Amino acid sequence: MENEKITVPKILRLKQEKKKIVALTAYDCLMARLVDEAGVDVILVGDSVGSVFSGYDSTLPVTLDEMLYHTRAVARARPRALLVMDMPFLSYQCGPDDAVRNCGRALKEGGAVAVKIEGGVAMAPTVRRLVEVGIPVMGHVGLTPQSIHQMGGYKVQGREEQDRKRILADALALQDAGAFSVVLECVPAILARDITRELRIPTIGIGAGADCDGQILVIHDLVGLTVNFTPRFVRRYAELGRELGRAVREYATDVREGRFPTPDQAF
Ligand code: KIV
Repeated sequence: MENEKITVPKILRLKQEKKKIVALTAYDCLMARLVDEAGVDVILVGDSVGSVFSGYDSTLPVTLDEMLYHTRAVARARPRALLVMDMPFLSYQCGPDDAVRNCGRALKEGGAVAVKIEGGVAMAPTVRRLVEVGIPVMGHVGLTPQSIHQMGGYKVQGREEQDRKRILADALALQDAGAFSVVLECVPAILARDITRELRIPTIGIGAGADCDGQILVIHDLVGLTVNFTPRFVRRYAELGRELGRAVREYATDVREGRFPTPDQAF
């Protein structure tokens, strides 16, 4: 693996070179070090931190300060991967000036290299302004969790012809506005393939089939730490939740039965 830091131009080059982009989430320094050392290209401090870490029912309550806190923790790992901060609900929807102020904080205070915002055509003027002032933007279309109430649930988007057209138009609008990549979440694989062929910028899929230019998952899903529900698009590469439970039960038994600590763990 090359040691060179992953930059925005490098992400664009990966698509031209037909090399897949590997992206994962991280919300803290320890996890960021582990996924970075394993060689991912992009680390996203996702607003999924709201459900995975903070226990909210959706991503809507996540605040800008919470995202900055987690992004700073990840930045302290000094990752080789491109560090992207997800902008939380209402931190960029109120207009381009507000978005510049808040997304600017992601770079200035969080140590991120780029931001991710949800939405397509409606967000294009904001994306254009962010890019003009030097803030790289990753777009996000299809299932956009911050619009959960409008969508009526976490459902696959783009099954009907008019929705397919809208999602393609959204992705194109983001590209035209200067976004350097776009996340396609929970859309039919065939639509993701068509969008990927149509765009010059990379698509990064989650529940969007194999033809995207890259893939992203929530690290806690991938390693089996989220135990209550696994979405169909996740492949669990480990069962760390089960292993953690086993370790804690063993520790508890040892403490209760006087087997921990032994002189080896004492001074
Ligand atoms: O918040 C998040 O983690 C995300 C990705 C999974 C795309 O938006």
